[in-house]
Amino acid sequence: MKKWFKYVKPYWVYFVCGPLCMIVEVIGEVLMPSFFARVMNLGSAFQGIEKEIAAAAEAIGAGTAYDPETLATFVKHLGNDALSSAMSLFEGAFESGDTVGAQAALAKMAEAAELVTAEPYVWQTMGTALLMVLVALIMMLGGVGGAYFGSKASVNFGADLRNDLFSKVQGFSFASIDKFSTGSLVTRLTNDVTQIQNTVNMMLRMMLRSPGMMIGALIMAISLRPDLSVILAVVLPLMLLSVGAIVLVGFPRFGRMQEKMDALNSTVQENITNVRVVKSFVSEEREKEKFRTANRNMKNAGMSAMKVMIFMSPVMTIFMNVTTMTILWFGARMVQNHGMEIGDLSAFISYVTQILSSLMMVTFMIVSFSRAAASAKRINAVLDEKTDLTDENAGRKEAVIEKGEIVFENVTFRYYKGSEDPVLSKIDLKIPAGSTVGIIGSTGCGKTTLVSLIPRLYDADEGRVLIDGIDVKDYSLYNLREGVGMVLQKNVLFSGTIESNLRWGDQEADMDAILEASTLAQADKFVSTFKEGYDTELDQGGTNVSGGQKQRLCIARALLKKPKILILDDSTSAVDTATERQIRQGLADYLNDSTKIIIAQRISSVKDADLIVVMDNGRIAAVGDHEELLEISEEYKEIFVSQTDGRSQPVAAAKA
Ligand SMILES: Nc1ncnc2c1ncn2[C@@H]1O[C@H](COP(=O)(O)OP(=O)(O)OP(=O)(O)O)[C@@H](O)[C@H]1O
Ligand SMILES: [Mg+2]
Repeated sequence: MKKWFKYVKPYWVYFVCGPLCMIVEVIGEVLMPSFFARVMNLGSAFQGIEKEIAAAAEAIGAGTAYDPETLATFVKHLGNDALSSAMSLFEGAFESGDTVGAQAALAKMAEAAELVTAEPYVWQTMGTALLMVLVALIMMLGGVGGAYFGSKASVNFGADLRNDLFSKVQGFSFASIDKFSTGSLVTRLTNDVTQIQNTVNMMLRMMLRSPGMMIGALIMAISLRPDLSVILAVVLPLMLLSVGAIVLVGFPRFGRMQEKMDALNSTVQENITNVRVVKSFVSEEREKEKFRTANRNMKNAGMSAMKVMIFMSPVMTIFMNVTTMTILWFGARMVQNHGMEIGDLSAFISYVTQILSSLMMVTFMIVSFSRAAASAKRINAVLDEKTDLTDENAGRKEAVIEKGEIVFENVTFRYYKGSEDPVLSKIDLKIPAGSTVGIIGSTGCGKTTLVSLIPRLYDADEGRVLIDGIDVKDYSLYNLREGVGMVLQKNVLFSGTIESNLRWGDQEADMDAILEASTLAQADKFVSTFKEGYDTELDQGGTNVSGGQKQRLCIARALLKKPKILILDDSTSAVDTATERQIRQGLADYLNDSTKIIIAQRISSVKDADLIVVMDNGRIAAVGDHEELLEISEEYKEIFVSQTDGRSQPVAAAKA
């Protein structure tokens, strides 16, 4: 909870003003029906007073029973001095049984009433009407203010939350990214934040408004007609029970709908990012089916939730109508028996409608709040994820990589911490500074994993990795990764120009340095054939250059950094052997005192290395130079023979 408060604090003014404005609106809304009642009561007094005076005169003349209450109410509403004084005269005479005096008073009243009712009705009601307009204006200000502050608060809240989530994800280790999956991270950063943002907005507008309106209307209704309010005492608990039941049944269904939405998002995400692969395997139909299934699941979950929620509205309407009917039933009698005025009856009905509808709002709020709670939980999981791979405890933050000597000391590593077979087991390896090292081995034997431990993409479970005698965990992450240039096996370029992509290696590099790096990586030649040269725009992921061109740009990007340690993970697999040899030679000259690690499938790529490491199933099978390995390593010899048809020169290299 404290964590969330952080997003409220900077905008507390909005968070306070929003609900306050809504209170202003509620007060207006609760007052309005009583104004209506006043206007209606005045209207009926206007129309009824002369008739009532006549009825009184007739009853008194005939000596029949007469109840002066209605007459008194009319006079009270009309608020005319002459009428009022005549009325008190009449009441005095009527009570003492003075029929002559009463008749005289009635005659006076009739005179006064004629004058009053001759005035236009509008003038009489003008005061109340003006007051109503004023209140409506204030209400409008409250409503607009509430919406404004509510939106401002919630949008800022959402933006800050998204920012924090994004920064958090940027700090994630590869292990954390593996754990959450990209699709779900995207959903959390977009959908879930929006869900919470909307709920915050609604809460700010409704939190005080609905309960406030309910309580206000309840007080007004009870003070207006305590007798009729008994009906509410029956209706409210019944309604709470049925709405509660609907919410209880419906809520878990909403939870399931959210899950299906996640699955749908992942499916779409995966398909769109990999649409080229999908097309090349002509598996559009299969993908469509996959999507259809995910979509159907989501639809069904949505339907099942909606099936329950659709009852909400009819149930509410039934309650509302039955209650109104009951009130009208009893109220009409009261009006007939002069126990109640028509304006009060209509005001009472308005209050009851307000009470019931705000009760419905409150339940909707609870539903939406619990849906947001599910999103909050998913966001919390991201915010709470331990960034285990940090440099907070690094002992030598100021240290930078100077020589580039790498030592693996008894290193063991697993991707899944509980699993039995480690991906790397007990690796001991020393790579001298400035040397060129080749790593070769069958797919899945752990080559990429091994080199990932050098720039701390992952941390070793057991053992240590040392660079220049310092544990990699003791460098600051920035210094460590500045010193290690790694061309990943699964590499990407970003949308933007070629130049801006190369500048990832070094933002400050001048054009000469860029050209040099690109020439060394054998990229300059093809870039200069592009019409726009280095200003050529690349698509997202670098899809508008060929595989080999992309690899060369990635190498150039890493070279620009002039790293002390350069790791090429299968980075020339799509480059022809002649070009590859040129790249290798360029590297040897340009980075002659840097340590170079080259992972390759082809013997020709590593043959000239100072040291070749042969890996097998997470272990180091043999270490040596080419000639030595041919003597001592069966695996190496096997790979060599398979790639050279037994001749002493590799086939591809010989052709080149
Ligand atoms: N992110 C990951 N999460 C879980 N397991 C992984 C992950 N990356 C690799 N592995 C597993 O670890 C093992 C070693 O993978 P690694 O990528 O190091 O192999 P490699 O030698 O580089 O293979 P290749 O020559 O095909 O690139 C494999 O069995 C692979 O399935
Ligand atoms: Mg690999």
